[in-house]
Amino acid sequence: MGITIKGLGYYTPERVLTNFDLEKMVDTSDEWITTRTGIKERRIADGSLIDMAYCASLKALEDAQIEPRDIDLIILATLTPDLGFPASACLLQAKLGANNAYAFDLSAACSGFLYGLEVASGILLSGKVKRALLVGAEKLSQIVDWQDRATCVLFGDGAGAAVISAEGSGELLASVMRSDGNYWEILYAQRCGHVRMRGKELFKIAVRSMAEVCEEVLRTAGVSVEEVDLIVPHQANIRIMEALAEKLGVSMDKVYSNIHRYGNTSAASIPIALCEARQEGRFKRGSLVLLTAMGGGLTWGATLLRF
Ligand code: UT7
Repeated sequence: MGITIKGLGYYTPERVLTNFDLEKMVDTSDEWITTRTGIKERRIADGSLIDMAYCASLKALEDAQIEPRDIDLIILATLTPDLGFPASACLLQAKLGANNAYAFDLSAACSGFLYGLEVASGILLSGKVKRALLVGAEKLSQIVDWQDRATCVLFGDGAGAAVISAEGSGELLASVMRSDGNYWEILYAQRCGHVRMRGKELFKIAVRSMAEVCEEVLRTAGVSVEEVDLIVPHQANIRIMEALAEKLGVSMDKVYSNIHRYGNTSAASIPIALCEARQEGRFKRGSLVLLTAMGGGLTWGATLLRF
């Protein structure tokens, strides 16, 4: 499928919360957090979700060299909207002045960016729109229980954005999206409540499920894992990424991670990682990049792109 990511951008708040800061808040240690998760620090937003989504979107638009009025569709993946309704995507549309777009939110937790890519691709390929802005943005600090050491050390705030078009040299070679609502209690938040997670169970399911969909996507595309230039997984835990690499039979050199800087930013984690990976020269136009995510729902998936 002819799908090209024309531009990428991200924004992370300036305020840094380190593991040492957390040591003063709950019974934890830098050593525990680092060895169990790979996280050293995370960002905390003082502003709104829309402020972050807006800053990331402006960078993606600039990267794609297009104006807000050239966007026909805005999809914003988040589980932490500023308002009950309307959709955050509509607030973002107004702030950007993207008056020619229609806009809606997508709720798929940490898989939000991959689900969004799937939905945006389908709409773009229908020919009804030419350019879509896909944003993953989260202000998880507002739903974290800052007294629960099992979860508060894991999450952070941020936003990532991509301008996507059906025109260009890129390709979406294959994708697989999955959900299983039977497992909803493993990771959830009540309305206006805190994140609750059964981490150990989720860890095992995450490794197994992401490996399965990655293998399925590679099989469908007829691409071997050796041919993939970079794997960009959802950034939930460095040990999950290491176990995934082992299952896929690749070294960690092929897996991008920035979890030490931002922790788990849910729907924002893949677009932030993609953007930083490109800035660091980890892939370029024509590279094969495999994305995979697992999150609340449960939801999971994998997408293979030729950039
Ligand atoms: O984004 C969606 C996807 N998210 C995930 O997939 C997350 C999956 N799960 C994980 O990443 C890991 O399970 C965690 C990082 C959440 C936890 O790591 P773990 O190695 O599974 O630790 P655990 O929950 O089994 O806890 C081990 C010990 C426990 O103490 P006892 O019972 O052995 O005495 C916990 O109470 O570590 C204790 N513990 C902590 N100690 C210090 C739990 N959290 C902390 C903490 N600091 N922050």
